[in-house]
Amino acid sequence: MTTDLIIRPMTAGDIPEVISLWRSSEGIGMAAGDDEAGIRAFLARNPDLSLVVRDRDRLAAAILCGHDGRRGYLHHLAVAPEFRRRGIGREIARRCVAGLNAAGIRKCHLLVYSRNTDAIEFWRSVNWGMREDLRIMSRMTSPEL
Ligand SMILES: CC(C)(COP(=O)(O)OP(=O)(O)OC[C@H]1O[C@@H](n2cnc3c(N)ncnc32)[C@H](O)[C@@H]1OP(=O)(O)O)[C@@H](O)C(=O)NCCC(=O)NCCS
Repeated sequence: MTTDLIIRPMTAGDIPEVISLWRSSEGIGMAAGDDEAGIRAFLARNPDLSLVVRDRDRLAAAILCGHDGRRGYLHHLAVAPEFRRRGIGREIARRCVAGLNAAGIRKCHLLVYSRNTDAIEFWRSVNWGMREDLRIMSRMTSPEL
């Protein structure tokens, strides 16, 4: 990874830029909870695990990482196009997994669109395994739905 890049925990001040990176990144699905208040709440519940990578005043990459006390979760890894294929994704994914391990979390999951074959290749290359035996089931929490 290029050495003049800074990797540090994501803070509330980063959120608007991070959301804009996610919005412009193919392969990232923005959904309920992905507004500024939602990400602020996520960071408050999971301090220091989510990361940004900055090149001076530019945001190069971001990832959300948290856990529920039992399983860890990585969300929305995005590297800005001009910073890809320099090992940034690999490095911040590694740090997130190490952070979860240090917090006593033994296993972690992430969601990736089936059509996002580039990201699947990326995750395989950093030792994540595809679960062929599982499907995700989802619903909104409002009672009328
Ligand atoms: C997927 C993504 C995060 C990878 O980030 P990155 O910093 O470019 O990845 P790295 O440079 O750390 O790559 C590590 C290894 O992953 C694999 N890899 C990375 N990008 C790949 C691609 N587009 N196609 C195939 N393999 C890829 C390679 O094995 C690579 O090693 P190499 O460069 O020595 O060949 C980035 O392309 C991205 O932001 N994509 C859009 C958003 C997205 O889909 N995020 C994933 C959500 S689940």
